Amino acid sequence: MSNLVFVAKESAAEETRVAASAESVKKMRNLGFDVVIEAGAGALSRIPDTEFEAVGGRIGSVEDARAADVILKVRRPTAGEISGYKNGAIVIAVMDPYGNEAALAEMARAGITSFAMELMPRITRAQSMDVLSSQANLAGYQAVIEAAAVYDRALPMMMTAAGTVPAAKVFVMGAGVAGLQAIATARRLGALVSATDVRPAAKEQVASLGAKFIAVEDEEFKAAETAGGYAKEMSREYQAKQAALVAEHIAKQDIIITTALIPGRPAPRLVGRDMLKAMRPGAVAVDLAIERGGNIEGAEYDKVADVEGVKVIGYPNMAGRIAASASALYAKNLVTFLETMVDKDSKSLGLNRADGLIKATMLTDGGEVVHPNFVDPDQPTVKKGDL
Ligand code: NAI
Repeated sequence: MSNLVFVAKESAAEETRVAASAESVKKMRNLGFDVVIEAGAGALSRIPDTEFEAVGGRIGSVEDARAADVILKVRRPTAGEISGYKNGAIVIAVMDPYGNEAALAEMARAGITSFAMELMPRITRAQSMDVLSSQANLAGYQAVIEAAAVYDRALPMMMTAAGTVPAAKVFVMGAGVAGLQAIATARRLGALVSATDVRPAAKEQVASLGAKFIAVEDEEFKAAETAGGYAKEMSREYQAKQAALVAEHIAKQDIIITTALIPGRPAPRLVGRDMLKAMRPGAVAVDLAIERGGNIEGAEYDKVADVEGVKVIGYPNMAGRIAASASALYAKNLVTFLETMVDKDSKSLGLNRADGLIKATMLTDGGEVVHPNFVDPDQPTVKKGDL
């Protein structure tokens, strides 16, 4: 008998994405799975039920989850959802495990084998399973679109018979996956773009996208990257020097987009009220780090706040605002990971618990919390930055 995959409709009201696409359902069918999609699961991602049916998926209800061997979700299941899953079911989602130890214990108690997609190692083999990258890339793009929508001027320079509109100046703070896409998008829209980061490797990447790199490039900066390619928390002295340089630069900008994160820490505070006050009337700021505490003083969760005359956009789940694209990429990340759990010959599920990707992402199994970072939360042994 075929193994059954259940694609859940997200229960969080603010979640627009879905954990499958027509393409991923087709792929799962080819891998030998029966696939049930909860009715309406794809509606907010513009995937009608008929599209899933056309590739061999069956439309069902939440009741179908009980028989499922694999449950695919965007977000960690709620207690109510978990109670509808069978013992031993595999659940794959973005689990947001840090600080949510009680929820992990609950999944363990229910006998669920759960996987956190955001813990996927950033190695070549797992690139197509990297949800942080697939979603951050779209978030970076969307940040520019949201900024452009509330900026009451044009981004590109326009020379017309009626006069010249100057190009907007856009400053991107944090040039990781989201920041680099924000730079590329703002450039395509014709803005004059500059960017900063504390990782020296970012300098070349920023320049290769045609943007100007702004940073205090001292000895600390030259060493400010972990072996895994992530930022380290900078010293107070560096932060003060950086703030002074950035303050002067921000005063001349029209739009700023902040994306700065440090694995396992609250987001660094990069932009103070005084800096916003120095900007021109009508300036716009987007805080993509809002879910981790924010980079911008005065940014408000899920709001466009007026801070010292600057419109500060604090939307969480920015990728969810471009849900059709975000779901397509997320679904591909999931199905690629699921494929590693299938025995090609027998076309059945076979978890190889010794596999590096399984070990890095498995949170609960056999009734226990098994991930080393959460077995004893005070003693994390594998940090995101180490992978
Ligand atoms: P992230 O989301 O953890 O952080 C975003 C950016 O903020 C980073 O570039 C970080 O250096 C920067 N930042 C932190 N503190 C800052 C400060 N005080 N001022 C300015 N910027 C600050 O990072 P993300 O986007 O997940 O990726 C970071 C790097 O990871 C990439 O550039 C790349 O080197 C590596 N990576 C590798 C992949 C692979 O090998 N498959 C895939 C994706 C990323």
